[in-house]
Amino acid sequence: MENEARKYVNLFAFIVILALFWPYLSELRPGLFKKHVEITPYKVEEKPEVVDGIEIESGLIYAEGYLLVKQQCTSCHSLELVTQNRATRAGWKENIRWMQETQGLWDLGTLEGPILDYLSKNYGPKEASRRANLKNIEWYEL
Ligand code: HEC
Repeated sequence: MENEARKYVNLFAFIVILALFWPYLSELRPGLFKKHVEITPYKVEEKPEVVDGIEIESGLIYAEGYLLVKQQCTSCHSLELVTQNRATRAGWKENIRWMQETQGLWDLGTLEGPILDYLSKNYGPKEASRRANLKNIEWYEL
């Protein structure tokens, strides 16, 4: 009987120890226990080669924030998908949400704001492609 009781005490001690170390275990192996958020820190490139305002290696417009897009948006598809598209900030955000919900794009964390700034500034809707407002129209009653 004493043996039986000791078994339960040992089991209880084991559970207590596991509970105490759980936070450390889960911090040590975030990929195992928690959703891992992959964020590449901003790095300054030595010498980007720029011709006519385009950074040659990525094909992106060379402007503030291009490096974030180059780092975060190339692992699944070519950047041509990005440079061929134009959208408002809201449109780009929607596109990113869609990739996050359906294509496994990770949470961009604090980089999302600067990335959206870059995309909407440099790949926003083209003014020229918009039809000019109609003028001098005589509307009639239907
Ligand atoms: C985890 C993978 C992944 C990453 C990283 C990723 N995308 Fe995508 N994205 C996709 C997939 C998959 C498609 C669909 C490709 C296709 O239709 O051929 C796509 C499509 C697109 C499209 C085209 C959408 C359309 O309506 O045609 C754009 C624009 C785009 N991505 C922009 C980005 C931007 C900007 C980033 C960086 C913030 C990014 N992607 C990072 C997976 C990803």
